[in-house]
Amino acid sequence: MLPPQGPTPAGVDRRHFMKTLSAAGLVLGAAPGLLAAAVTGRRKRYAIVGLGSRYRMYHDAIEKTYKEHAELVALCDKNAGRLALAQKRSAENGAPVPAGYLHTDFDKMVREAKPDVVIVTTMDSTHDEYLVRAMELGCDTVTEKPMTTTPDKCQRILDARAKTGKLVRVLFNYRYSPPRTQVKDILMSGEIGEVLSVDFQWLLNTSHGADYFRRWHGRKENSGGLMIHKATHHFDLVNWWLGAVPVRVDATGKREFYTPAMAKRFGLSSHHDRCHTCPEKDKCGFFMSLADNPGLKSLYLDQEHHDGYFRDQCVFNPRIDIEDTMNVIVGYDNNVTLNYSLNAFNAWEGYQIAFNGTLGRLEHSIVEQVYVNAADSDDAQGAIAEGGTRTRVIPLRGAGRKVEPWTGTGSHGGGDKLMLDDLFLPAPPADKYLRAADERAGAISILIGAAANQCFTTHQPVDIRKLVTGLGTPEYAPMPSRTGPLPMPQAARIRRG
Ligand SMILES: NC(=O)c1ccc[n+]([C@@H]2O[C@H](COP(=O)([O-])OP(=O)(O)OC[C@H]3O[C@@H](n4cnc5c(N)ncnc54)[C@H](O)[C@@H]3O)[C@@H](O)[C@H]2O)c1
Repeated sequence: MLPPQGPTPAGVDRRHFMKTLSAAGLVLGAAPGLLAAAVTGRRKRYAIVGLGSRYRMYHDAIEKTYKEHAELVALCDKNAGRLALAQKRSAENGAPVPAGYLHTDFDKMVREAKPDVVIVTTMDSTHDEYLVRAMELGCDTVTEKPMTTTPDKCQRILDARAKTGKLVRVLFNYRYSPPRTQVKDILMSGEIGEVLSVDFQWLLNTSHGADYFRRWHGRKENSGGLMIHKATHHFDLVNWWLGAVPVRVDATGKREFYTPAMAKRFGLSSHHDRCHTCPEKDKCGFFMSLADNPGLKSLYLDQEHHDGYFRDQCVFNPRIDIEDTMNVIVGYDNNVTLNYSLNAFNAWEGYQIAFNGTLGRLEHSIVEQVYVNAADSDDAQGAIAEGGTRTRVIPLRGAGRKVEPWTGTGSHGGGDKLMLDDLFLPAPPADKYLRAADERAGAISILIGAAANQCFTTHQPVDIRKLVTGLGTPEYAPMPSRTGPLPMPQAARIRRG
């Protein structure tokens, strides 16, 4: 449920919030003049809730790249400071300043600003509140991944979708990255026959990987842990690559690196609360300075007094309850087996995957650029390192071929730009890979993670089909037949020696 209307978030009274906005020369609530100026009757009306690091790509897309088709009519966040920054961004974009609302006024925002679509880019565990309420109030919805964090929240979204007939679009940008689309293309072509099993390892390094342990992501109640927050991308890729639905999960998970004991083994006297006030910052290799980074400072450090959120919490703090080492086995409805691992303290960042098919093997790996900082540059996020993509197809017998990778530039390997076209263009080009994802794909990707989370505590396999009801099968592009005739492999030349 959304918090009731009334008081502004903890530590922020309405007068203080008004002062924050007026200091920035901005407006609160509906601003009829400004809104009227923006209304053309032809462009789609968007509101965005959740105005942190990730949301900015959508803000700029609406006000710059797609302004002929889209307009931003309202902004909402629980942090008055970030709300004011977001309104300032519109002014800097030369666009009419959208009306700003605190999260407690979400219903009011929808009633007054009348968006066609609400884009949800808040903390993961709150997505369901806004998706459900927006649909109930008559809006279509778009959500960042993960769609949500638990089976119960997932059920609420599925029920609201069925009851209201409104849409849920889940933004799986990885599907759009050219080399990953290319993998789908090869699998669809039948070159390796039908896939029988998949081996997939994802590595996070101690810059990007460590960052999950500094932020709200470090608590399962906020993020669902890395099995939901991060692996939703990976499970979605496999679901979509295979064109299949996961049914069974077995998993183990633990945290052994980001722990108080490890702080001591690295020579610190103990773990601490946060980097900003850390007495041992000079000796800690995991220290990050919010104060020295203009992007992080303005978005988080300068806004702490509104909500008390620290973005630089100690990565060794015992408050953390998410895993850093996870191993998962997934069984699919077409009998494919996925063997997946996620490790958050590795020497490089990226992944390797192999599809074992009836006619051969597809191997694919990506090394991502070393992550610098999300709040300074969206382009650094998930970008592929130069020469970092390797794809190879090897028939059961005979020589393999190296695949020249499809390329893209920018955030998430070029995937973000293609995804935005698909999202904001009124008539996006037909997509034979069916990359646009709805709540069904959103659900099955997070349900693998939710099932894995259950396995971590019960040590028992989980039947995903029992976690929610009323879940349909996502629409997938046609994949190679799993029953038709196959060409006999070339006779093997056996070497004796
Ligand atoms: N697709 C991707 O590659 C990608 C990359 C980064 C983040 N994300 C997703 O985007 C979302 C936002 O992540 P971020 O990195 O911007 O986080 P962030 O912490 O920078 O921003 C989150 C924002 O949501 C606000 N918020 C939190 N709870 C709220 C509530 N109940 N009501 C209203 N506002 C609330 C916070 O004040 C903050 O402004 C997350 O769901 C994350 O998983 C996706």
